[in-house]
Amino acid sequence: MNQDEMKQAVAQAALDYIRPKIDDDTVLGIGTGSTANLFIDCLADIRGLLTATVASSEASAERLRNHGIPVYDLNAVDQVDFYIDGADECNAALQLIKGGGAALTREKIVTAVAKEFICIADESKLVHTLGQFPLPVEVIPMARSHVARELVKLGGDPVYRDGVVTDNGNVILDVYNFSIPQPLATEEKINGITGVVTNGLFALKPADVLLLGTPQGVKTLY
Ligand code: 5RP
Repeated sequence: MNQDEMKQAVAQAALDYIRPKIDDDTVLGIGTGSTANLFIDCLADIRGLLTATVASSEASAERLRNHGIPVYDLNAVDQVDFYIDGADECNAALQLIKGGGAALTREKIVTAVAKEFICIADESKLVHTLGQFPLPVEVIPMARSHVARELVKLGGDPVYRDGVVTDNGNVILDVYNFSIPQPLATEEKINGITGVVTNGLFALKPADVLLLGTPQGVKTLY
């Protein structure tokens, strides 16, 4: 299996995982990115069973609507039962780096509400220590230089993601050369910098389940 086939396999595995648990009251949270897109396309097969979804980006909301799947504002639903999304990196504790698609803040908000976060990723995303993938940080535009200086003090090399404006109207700094042996402490430290909206570490609330695509098939990690 190549990487695309592994992504397809985990998208299908996520559908198989949630399908028996869906009823009329179920609200699905849907992530962003190429793996999440494959999952959205799988959902089209069961659109008749779906009463409500919420999306972590405008792009995913549009893709859902194009399949005829109902999308709601997060404020209009009482709960999110499952959140299904990809990751840029994951470790054995199911802590993640996300935000390669610049949707990290909305992803973190839907994660915070969700009862169960199911991460879907191919095995190239699994690492021993997070940080080989540059850590995305969403920043209020006027604080960009201040936050960059603070990130340098923490040991990273922040790079402005030129030309990218998030769905929330903010900018992204990607932190390179930043090994993260203590994801919980690092997530809290970066969130504490004035001007940071959020950072792409999902350690304080990691995934609950990781469906990992491997050439031998999909592995389920808890
Ligand atoms: C978007 C994300 C994505 O989940 C992450 O970038 C993985 O994307 P892909 O499934 O395309 O590899 O966090 O902000």
